[in-house]
Amino acid sequence: MTEVSSNISRAVDLLNQDKLVAIPTETVYGLAGNIYSEKAIKGIFEMKQRPLFNPLIVHIYDIRQVRELTTDFPEKAQKLAQKFWPGSLTLILPKNEKVPNLITANKNSVGIRMPDHSVTLELLAQLEFPLAAPSANPFSRISPTTAQHVKDYFNDKLELVLDGGPCKNGIESTIVGFENEEPVIYRLGSISQEEIEEVIGKVNINNQEKNAPIAPGMVEKHYAPRTKTVLVENVSDYLQANRHLKIGILLHQKIDDEQLAHTVKYLTSTSDIKEAASLLYASLHELDALNLDIIVAQKFPDSGIGKSLNDRLTRATK
Ligand code: TXA
Ligand code: MG
Repeated sequence: MTEVSSNISRAVDLLNQDKLVAIPTETVYGLAGNIYSEKAIKGIFEMKQRPLFNPLIVHIYDIRQVRELTTDFPEKAQKLAQKFWPGSLTLILPKNEKVPNLITANKNSVGIRMPDHSVTLELLAQLEFPLAAPSANPFSRISPTTAQHVKDYFNDKLELVLDGGPCKNGIESTIVGFENEEPVIYRLGSISQEEIEEVIGKVNINNQEKNAPIAPGMVEKHYAPRTKTVLVENVSDYLQANRHLKIGILLHQKIDDEQLAHTVKYLTSTSDIKEAASLLYASLHELDALNLDIIVAQKFPDSGIGKSLNDRLTRATK
C-alpha cells in the first residue's frame, strides 16, 4: 500500500535509493526521481506510461542551480525567475552535458522550475540532486491536486506520497522558452500571459499540437476525465436541449435551470478565477466518479488565468 505522510526524511531515503516519491507543489503533485538516476527516470516514464519523447521538468530550490544545468541564462529568463520563483513558471533553457538526455527526450533544452511549496523546497534542500517530476497522473488523465488523487492512481506501485495538502494553485506551471532570443509561451498555466508580459513585454503563445516537436506535452487530448466532457458558453441552453441525459455541471457563475442537472459543482461562489483554478481538477475527479453521461463545463472569460483554464478544459474534451 502506498504510504501517505509528510515525513520528509523518509522521502529523502527513498529518493537516495533511486526510488520514486510523489511530491506536493503549489500547482499539482509531481512524480519525482533523481535526475541523475537512470533507474529512477525510466521508472517515472514507466509508471506514468508516458512516451519517451516527452521531456520532464527539473525542480530546483536555489536559482544558482540553473547555471549548473544550462549553458545560457538569458536576461529575460533571469527577470522572470526573479519575479516568479519560487512559483508556477517553468523556463526552457539550453541544457549542458550534465543533464541526462533521457530527461530532455534528447532535446538540447531543459525545463526548470522552483516550486513554491515549503515541504518540497525543504526536501530539495536535503538532496544532493535536483528532482525530475512530471505531474503524478497516468498519461493523458487529470492531474492530481491532492495526495489522495495520487494514491488513487498509483496505489501499490508507489511507496510514498509526500503529503503537502491540497495544491493551492491547482493547474500546472506556465512554460516559457526562447526562440531567437524571443520569449514564447509553450503552455498556459498558473501564471497568466498578462503577468509575464508585465515583466518582459510582448510574448507569443505557441501551444498547438502541430508544434509538438517543440513542446511535446501539448498533445490535444490531455487532462481528460473518462466521462465525456464539453466546454460551453451557455450551460442553461445545453441543459434545456439535453434533458434526457445525466449531466454534471461545472460552474463559476450562477445560471438559470441548474436544477436540470444531476450534479452541480461551483468552482467559486464569488467568481474568483484563482479559487476556480485551485478546485478545477479536484472537481473533475469528483464528477468523473459519478457515472454521469456527460460533464458540462462553463467557459471562462478568455483572459488571465481564465484562458489557461479554457485551454485545459478544451484538451479535456478531445
Ligand atoms: O506545474 C508543473 O509544471 C508540474 C509540477 C509537478 O511541477 N509538472 C508538470 O510536468 O506539469 P508535466 O511533465 O506533466 O508537463 C511538463 C511539460 C510537458 O508538456 C513537456 O513536454 C514540457 O513540459 N517540457 C519539458 N521539458 C521541455 C523542453 N525541454 N522543451 C519543451 N517542452 C518541455
Ligand atoms: Mg502533465
